[in-house]
Amino acid sequence: KALNLELTRCELDEVEGVFFTETICANWNKIWNFRARPDDLLIATYAKAGTTWIQEIVDMIQQDGDLEKCKRDTTYKRQPFIEWSLPEYFGPIPSGLELAEVMPSPRTLKTHLPAQLVPPSFWDQNCKVIYVARNAKDNLVSYYHFHRMNKMMPEPGTWEEFVEKFMDGKVLWGSWYDHVKGWWEAKDKHHILYLFYEDMKENPKHEIQKVVHFLEKDLKKEVLEKIVKHTAFENMKNNPMANYTKEFEGIMNHSISPFMRKGTIGDWKNHFTVAQNEKFDQDYKKKMAGTSLNFRSEL
Ligand code: A3P
Repeated sequence: KALNLELTRCELDEVEGVFFTETICANWNKIWNFRARPDDLLIATYAKAGTTWIQEIVDMIQQDGDLEKCKRDTTYKRQPFIEWSLPEYFGPIPSGLELAEVMPSPRTLKTHLPAQLVPPSFWDQNCKVIYVARNAKDNLVSYYHFHRMNKMMPEPGTWEEFVEKFMDGKVLWGSWYDHVKGWWEAKDKHHILYLFYEDMKENPKHEIQKVVHFLEKDLKKEVLEKIVKHTAFENMKNNPMANYTKEFEGIMNHSISPFMRKGTIGDWKNHFTVAQNEKFDQDYKKKMAGTSLNFRSEL
């Protein structure tokens, strides 16, 4: 029977008030009981905050800048996405849990879970975590286009509708506001390096050095330069092992909007109307009141 993927966009359901795909909800027990190992490194982000970028940076650091080693497999296979799995009709794509379980240590894993829903064994094992946050408006714009091109995502609706859903936290992985704030608080209790997309863009070498230090690595100057170059947007856009063109064919449609879309700061200005922007800013102030967390929406 021919498969009409248009009909198979997922619905969202809730775990502890946070929205996830029905598949994640159905597997929640397994995810929550994930057994972390002490030498696991967890990369955590809100979706579209620069996950793939930091993943490539981390892998390059771990492989001492060896490009060929970083091309051993796709991002999805190199660093298992612990809560991710797809209904069978999407094809034989292994789940994050399956990939993680068979991976030898030390593992680097990915998650978009909010801090309070991270499997407790990561904290029990005192695992290192790298969190990347991106300003709300650019994150929203990127998420909107990602919904358009990716049939694993719920239907985004119109731009106007999506903005409302994002502000209400009624999107996959829940409220951006709670996510960035929750992780900001968690960093005072756990072994977390909290980075910003905007800083990475402004001074990649400086931010990469922070990661090198956090991972207790010592890299030669040339290697550092090589990592900066290899992880620049244009290079990652052209890297089939990092640009999501190799997996999820038929699910992601890069001609609607490429996964490596723009990689800039301030693209929200091309999307928000003046009225939308005012409303968004007012709501933002309320939701972000009382946090010391500061974002830059332009450089
Ligand atoms: P845009 O849609 O704004 O272009 P994630 O990996 O969390 O899904 O995030 C994807 C976003 O990060 C996309 O943003 C993508 O273009 C951007 N991105 C990916 N690699 C990047 C890089 N090397 N430099 C800057 N941005 C990058």
